[in-house]
Amino acid sequence: MTTGTTTVSTTGTTASSPSTSQPNLSQTTGNSAAILGLGIYRPRRIVPNSEVIEEIDSSDEWIQQRSGIKTRRFAGPDETVQFMSTAAARQALGNAGVEATQVDGIIVATISHLLQTPAIAPAIAAELGADKPVAFDISAACAGFCHGVALANDMIRAGSARHILVIGVERLSDITSRSDRGTAFIFADGAGAALVGPSQTPGIGPVVWGSDGERFDLIRQIEDWRDVVADEAPTMPHLTMQGAEVFRWASFEMAKVAQEAVDAAGIATADLDVFVPHQANNRITDTLARAMKLPEHVRIARDIVDQGNTSAASIPLALARMIEEGEAKSGDLALMIAFGAGLSYAAQVVRVP
Ligand code: COA
Repeated sequence: MTTGTTTVSTTGTTASSPSTSQPNLSQTTGNSAAILGLGIYRPRRIVPNSEVIEEIDSSDEWIQQRSGIKTRRFAGPDETVQFMSTAAARQALGNAGVEATQVDGIIVATISHLLQTPAIAPAIAAELGADKPVAFDISAACAGFCHGVALANDMIRAGSARHILVIGVERLSDITSRSDRGTAFIFADGAGAALVGPSQTPGIGPVVWGSDGERFDLIRQIEDWRDVVADEAPTMPHLTMQGAEVFRWASFEMAKVAQEAVDAAGIATADLDVFVPHQANNRITDTLARAMKLPEHVRIARDIVDQGNTSAASIPLALARMIEEGEAKSGDLALMIAFGAGLSYAAQVVRVP
């Protein structure tokens, strides 16, 4: 489904007490939005393949060849979801030149804030010193950051907020089994934030997003909390993944979605400067780039090599690295595409802040 300009019909009827005044329900302001600043947090501890293979009968060579990962980051006890989020958010605000008090929306994409309720977003808002912004979490797994950017774009264009922090944050090391051969070497921790705000020219293209609930079980928490507590010796539930099926789906279905996002932005693939796919696996990235026939000049994000797969945090972390290393510069056109559990996906073309 492609979302373009959002309009809301203003026609309606009232059941009783007809009023002479007309309701004004129009939500179209004509505002444009863009990513104004990015920020990230990488946990301190670097974990090499030699450490994760201890429990999974694997090798550094196998992991590098199958995923591209050499090292990943695992958060320490003090590097909580809230801590990493506020660190990334402060950097995004600083880079955008926007004060926390100007933020009127915070959207946090995560699957590893392990308190069922409340959401972590209001606590992050309070720590940042924001002034009672709308603040909520979304659960779209690895696709969450691109969902958040799309929601922020639509909210700003509709006039329901002006400056929105979109945060992707994960501590997947808390919910990954160290002895699961299919996931132990993949998942990692970190945070990224984008400050989305008003812009004279549109900096965020139409989103192409959706889900495939027929494949709900391909990546999931192994059991629900009621089953966990019913166990005689409860253990932390972990993520499980049917890797080969996920690989096929991501490589082929997501190439079509990526192309749709480029088309929806009204550009050609050759107009792109940067390709920032979810850092799931370098082989998926290669297959997507081939399927899209990306020209040589399009630089491709490879943050996964030193960072692992950080789910909702992976795209801002990857884009920030490209900016740091001079592979992406302000004004460049970047295609972002994220996909994962659900299965859920979202893609859009953005201007690099
Ligand atoms: N280390 C060493 N060998 C392993 C292994 C590991 N961690 N995991 C599996 N193997 C072995 C299997 O035993 C099997 O050996 P065999 O051929 O002798 O029987 C072989 O590798 C293939 O097993 P399979 O489970 O089919 O692995 P795969 O080729 O599908 O590779 C992944 C596993 C996880 C690397 C791959 O499926 C993948 O990259 N999937 C996408 C995952 C992903 O990106 N997810 C993120 C989405 S958000």
